[in-house]
Amino acid sequence: MDVSDDELEVRRSKKHTATPNKPGNGPDHPRKKPRLSAPAGSSSSSSSKDASIQKQRKELPIYTGKDAIVDVIRENDVTVLIGETGSGKTTQVPQYLLESGLAGSGMIAVTQPRKVAATSLAARVAAEQGTSVGGLVGYSVRFDEAASPETRVKYVTDGMLVRELLGDPLLSRYSVIVVDEAHERTLRTDLLIANLKTIQQIRNAPVDAKGKASAAKLSPLKVVIMSATLEAEKFSKFYDNQQSKIFSPTPSGMRKCILATNIAETSITIPGIKYVIDTGKCKEKRYVARQAGSGFDTLLTRDITQSSAVQRAGRAGREVSGSGYCFRLYTEESFNKMPVTAEPEIRRVTLTSSMLQLKCLGQDFEEIEFMDKPDEESVAAALKTLFLLGALDNHKNLTPLGRQMAVFPLEPPLARALVAAVEFGCTAEVLSIVSVLSASSHLFVDNTEARDAAADARRKFRHLSGDHLTVLNVVRAYEDVAASESKAGRRDWCRKMYLNDRCLAEAMNIRAQLRDVCTRLNIDWRVSAGDNETPVLKALLRGLVLNTAFLRPDGSYKQAMGPSLVKIHPSSSLADKKVQAIIYNELVYTTHVYARGVSAIPRSFIAEVPVFIQRTAL
Ligand code: CDP
Ligand code: MG
Repeated sequence: MDVSDDELEVRRSKKHTATPNKPGNGPDHPRKKPRLSAPAGSSSSSSSKDASIQKQRKELPIYTGKDAIVDVIRENDVTVLIGETGSGKTTQVPQYLLESGLAGSGMIAVTQPRKVAATSLAARVAAEQGTSVGGLVGYSVRFDEAASPETRVKYVTDGMLVRELLGDPLLSRYSVIVVDEAHERTLRTDLLIANLKTIQQIRNAPVDAKGKASAAKLSPLKVVIMSATLEAEKFSKFYDNQQSKIFSPTPSGMRKCILATNIAETSITIPGIKYVIDTGKCKEKRYVARQAGSGFDTLLTRDITQSSAVQRAGRAGREVSGSGYCFRLYTEESFNKMPVTAEPEIRRVTLTSSMLQLKCLGQDFEEIEFMDKPDEESVAAALKTLFLLGALDNHKNLTPLGRQMAVFPLEPPLARALVAAVEFGCTAEVLSIVSVLSASSHLFVDNTEARDAAADARRKFRHLSGDHLTVLNVVRAYEDVAASESKAGRRDWCRKMYLNDRCLAEAMNIRAQLRDVCTRLNIDWRVSAGDNETPVLKALLRGLVLNTAFLRPDGSYKQAMGPSLVKIHPSSSLADKKVQAIIYNELVYTTHVYARGVSAIPRSFIAEVPVFIQRTAL
């Protein structure tokens, strides 16, 4: 469809328009917070706001459609809003809803597929409202939140909102959910959209013949689905998650050069971009399901889609007065051969974590009405994984263990290891290890130029059993340094040790949050096994049962629960060792299938694990 910069298309969903103008949702509803309902720039509440910011807001293409957008959302349960990137959807629509009083006393959630988008957008919109983040405008992403009782607009990752469903299945705190970047079709977005439909059926049910209000007695829920004109290519999860510098103005006489992953394709606005060089390539995460249900995620370089190419070009001259150039490092012929859009994530990635969450909600993947059905093999693989972790019984029902695992905002294998750690008396150690493994970047800096120096530095932390206990040694050393050194001192130490300072800082934050979860569950996170590594390895093994492999006579390792032959990744401290059995964090598929993050496990430990005992075919 043709949508120009200053045009926004508002689509209505007739199907969900049963209850327009419900009491409490319309324009005449008494506004509980009058300062919120004042139009931008017109009242005393906005006098303190930066005038140039208010001017910028009015110059955005979306501004002319402001009233129409608010009206359409008021009159429909579901609104689909399509507009080019940069037109102002993400930053303005939530403010329009806030200022019109349409949200009533509930909160407005705006979902983003990525953390960095949620946090930077919250900062921008808070500035536009003349407040600081965490007040009127906040954010909530995994392991980080800035919100308060005053918060009315919250930028959240789609994953966080799915997680909120676990505690509040009707999302009762919210009166509007804006599902942004819907074209990216992340797994969590798909899950959310499926659930929002059910929630609306309950919350927006019309008053019945006897005049009874809907069962839930909650205000109706508005859903706004927002998207760019074209479908955008999937993003890489790695981000350099240095990003704040790219948003600052370029010093005079200097030039800003940004090397970006697919992340820069959508959702974030980087000011001052005039030229874009598009390689035509991206890295895509894809889950390779295997017959035995033990597949793995791969991250491979491949051609982008046409819609990505358009998005990339659109990054140049995005600002109001700007114009720019895009240099494509590929021929027109190659462009024409590119697929138009990418496959939705639900058809590409591991479903394990989402399936566990759905099970906690009493739902089944097989029964949910999705926009795109997930691959049957992936569903089977997720079921099998959860069964082998003990989260599901053999009737596919959630077990108490599974429910316990879901409380931790961790991938199911790591959650399982943590639950086991409580049992084995090594909570402190396993918390440190899983925190590092949950960080968004790798702990060890892989520096090809200084490989020997890096290996030397790493040797200081080396633990005989392998990488997991080595990670623990690093955390302990970092804690000692952190106790006596300034931030700069810590960074310096990390640089000397070839460690990723950002990973460690993030891990400490994650660990603090996980400790809070433990405290809420009456789990003493201080319980430590001291220098005894046995319980730590046993706990990790419970979580990594699917990531176990045995040495074969020819020196390779064969998966215990799958058909693949794997090699130990060269970056591992066990790379040149032959041990009876290994557990690993992940498989990476390059020239070989490599196991990364590896520890040696004595066979006697494996013999104690119930799922291995049950598998006589071992
Ligand atoms: O969502 P959409 O792509 O339609 O636009 P947006 O993200 O709301 O951005 C609208 C405008 O706000 C951009 O063109 C930028 O000028 C500005 N913006 C910004 O300065 N800083 C941000 N973090 C986000 C947006
Ligand atoms: Mg946007």
